[in-house]
Order: sequence, then C-alpha cells, then structure tokens
Amino acid sequence: MATRDLSFPRIEGQASRQAHCDLPEGTFERELGREGFFGPATQMYHSHPPTGWLDWSGPLRPRCFDLNKLGDTDIFFWDAPLILHNASVRVRQWRCNTNMDHLVRNADGDDLLFIHQGGGEVYCDYGHMDYAAGDYIVLPRSTMWRIEPATPTTLLAIECTSGAYRLPERGLVGHQAQFDRAILDTPKIDAAFRAQQDENEWRVHIKRRNQLSSVHYPFNPLDAVGWQGELSPVRINVKDIRPLTSHRYHLPPSAHTTWVGNRFVVCTFLPRPFESDPGALKVPYFHNNDDYDEVLFYHAGDFFSRDNIDAGMMTWHPCGFTHGPHPKALQHMFEQKKPMTDEVAVMLDTRDPLDMGEAAAEIEWPAYAQSWRTGEEPMRPPEIPHKAAE
Ligand SMILES: [Fe+2]
Repeated sequence: MATRDLSFPRIEGQASRQAHCDLPEGTFERELGREGFFGPATQMYHSHPPTGWLDWSGPLRPRCFDLNKLGDTDIFFWDAPLILHNASVRVRQWRCNTNMDHLVRNADGDDLLFIHQGGGEVYCDYGHMDYAAGDYIVLPRSTMWRIEPATPTTLLAIECTSGAYRLPERGLVGHQAQFDRAILDTPKIDAAFRAQQDENEWRVHIKRRNQLSSVHYPFNPLDAVGWQGELSPVRINVKDIRPLTSHRYHLPPSAHTTWVGNRFVVCTFLPRPFESDPGALKVPYFHNNDDYDEVLFYHAGDFFSRDNIDAGMMTWHPCGFTHGPHPKALQHMFEQKKPMTDEVAVMLDTRDPLDMGEAAAEIEWPAYAQSWRTGEEPMRPPEIPHKAAE
C-alpha cells in the first residue's frame, strides 16, 4: 500500500526560519529530532534552558562513568570490564602494560580499538603495526591479534556484534573529505613481524557467542609471509581526521561520523573553530535525539560543552530526555572567550537501548543528572545582539 509521510514543515509562534541560527531574542533552542539528526525534526524556542530541571527519579537519567577508576591492569582481554552493551555493540575498557603471550580472536564481530593512552606494537594475522594514543584500529571479525605495549596502554574496545565497520557516505563533500582512504594504514609483513615468528607453543583464545574456546598450536600461527586482498585491519589516528565545519552554522554530531557499525555509529569530535557568524549557535544545541542512546568518551583536551568532565570519563544520555550544554559552557558561548574547541572525544550513538555492564555501576558519578543545575536564579542569556526572527 502506498504511504504518505506525516512530516512536513510548519511554523508556529516565534521561531527562526533557519535552525541553529538567529534565535528569537532571549530564547533557548531545542531540537526534537528523529533518526539521529537525519530524520524529521522540529526546532523549538524556549524561555528557559530545557535542562533546568530540579530533580530526577526513576531509572531513566543521564549517567556519567569515571573509567579512570577501573584500575585493573594486565587482565585477560576477554575479562576487560563491560561498560555498556546491547545486541549490536559492546563497549569495554582494557588496560594492558605487559606483552601478551597469547592471541585473541573475536568471532562475534569486528572490534574497534580506540587507544586512549599508551603506545606499542600490534601483531595480527596480517602483519605488524605500531599504535599510539588517538589511534583507531579496526580488527575485522576473527582476526588473531596481540599487543606488546611500550608504555602502559588503556583502550576502548567497541565490538560491532555480528557486523562489520564501514565508512560513512560523504555525499556532496566527496569521499576524500575528513580523511582520504589512502591514509588508512594496514599491517606490514616486516622485519618485526618476521622476528616474532617462532616454533614455540601458542594459544589462541576465541570468543564466539560470548563463550571462550582455546586453540593450542605448536608454533606461532602469525606466520604469514604475505597476503593480497581487500580485507584487512586498518589504523587511523584522530590527528589525520579533518573535521567538517561551517562558520555560519553549527553542524549536527552526525557530520562528525567516523565509523558506521550495525545499528550504531562512532563519531569523533576534534578541535575546530567556533562558528563566527553573530547569529550562529556556538555550542551544541539542546536536543532530544529521540531514537538513539548517546555515549561520549572524553579522550583529551577541554570539553567545551561539559562542566566538570575530565579525560577518561564517559557520559551516557539514553533516549528519552532533553540534553545540551552545561551552564558554564553555555555562558562561555555567550561570552565568546575562545576561538576554537580543544576537545577530542569519541561518540557512540546506538539505535537500540543500551544496558549498563556490571563494571559501570561501580564507577558511576550519581549526581551527574544534577550537573545542569544553575543555582537559585534561572539562567538567562546575557544581553548580546540576536537577530530576532520575523
Ligand atoms: Fe545528544
């Protein structure tokens, strides 16, 4: 049966005709959006910050986890604490200081490793690469691998369960935008790789359906002498990602998508100039992302839209409530003290609800939901020139 879309643009009361720009005097904009900034959306203009709540009760609330407090090091990779998960994605943090004397293989899906701290060498079926803080490494499903840290290493492992990581469509900006595919590094069959090949006994610990099996070899199975094909681990450092910006328009988070998984995306927020047009918003607008759970991991820098958030922390904004910049960040926007952001953060947006892993409850900052409170007086934007909408 043919169907007709329920959505078409209408305008009611005082509103700007251009989202995120030229807000009516003294208003706070909120986007009510579907399908993760791609679907039907309405911009609403409020007289109070939409995060100016007094209190929360019930299971739905914004949450914050301090992953710096997960102190276990050199535990087995498959025992790394599970922070958040659903049927499509599992997020864990792993710390490793010493060389792995075994191999691991994930038969449940691709793993995306994000190196938060440390550096060293990674050896896998396909050869050898080094790694450093800020690297993303995509390990295709069932790749055998191990690492040799040169410095203590902390990484996020984001599993794309039953799926493969892909690159986003770049559309009108072309597929060289943000990074050229030529800049993705792949493992090398080099001297270091050949040097680790031996006739000693090695074990491979395989995860399949979240159950572990072990294979015992009388030699190191990372013994390839060469390969050709289009399937391989890839590595890119966040320094090689060139963010899209507009000086007149605050781009939505989806513009910063780096990886597309199965029912989730991973985006990277990088240092970039603030919008300079007087009428353009300079911080993320208040929004309900009404089909997605949103997770942010703060890697480095000064997190411009968040107060009291340090590197190594993770926030989780489940679908179902409005969120946006913290009060101080909003004030800084009005004062326009900084020319550009200085943040590196990894965002995970999932189409299906996430659940907390056991480790998350122990490191939660319970007062996070109150962190938008602004004190006795409701926060008002200072007198700065706004172009009033017609
Ligand atoms: Fe959000």
